[in-house]
Amino acid sequence: MNITVKLNGIAQTIAVEPSDLLIDVIRDRLGVKSPKYGCGKGDCGACTVLLDGDVVRSCLVLAVEADGREITTVEALSMEGPNDVQRELIRNNAFQCGFCAPGVTLAAEELLRRNADPTEEEIREAVAGNLCRCTGYQQIVEAVRTAARSRRKKAGRKRRPRSGRKGVKS
Ligand code: FES
Ligand code: FES
Repeated sequence: MNITVKLNGIAQTIAVEPSDLLIDVIRDRLGVKSPKYGCGKGDCGACTVLLDGDVVRSCLVLAVEADGREITTVEALSMEGPNDVQRELIRNNAFQCGFCAPGVTLAAEELLRRNADPTEEEIREAVAGNLCRCTGYQQIVEAVRTAARSRRKKAGRKRRPRSGRKGVKS
């Protein structure tokens, strides 16, 4: 059967088998390689993508379930260079081998989209499903906190009303 998905903003129609997994279709058929095949059982988070904005394990999702939906991989965050979360992860040397990086980054991005000011506990909880064998998560947490802070600052600047003209009382 044919399915149509919007992958990183681009609509794609592709023929799939009912048993095809989303991760295989994304990587092998659509050529986007950032979701990694780790455990294949939903345990490691290496295959994380956003499906209609929600974190999912693409090794547990059938491609047919994604029909008509929007898939986001980490490539979408860096269309115009690394985004703020990615920049902070790099600046904090948050990764070593990088195998977990796409999944961790998407989990952090999803967290900040729904929670602009997460606590350390909330950050740890958001990335807990993304297993990292190389680090102790501390730099990841620091990076996400800093990205959240700078995103709030930026949003505050955008929201701040223009000050009145000098000498005009409001
Ligand atoms: S490969 Fe999907 S959770 Fe491990
Ligand atoms: S940096 Fe190697 S698994 Fe996370």
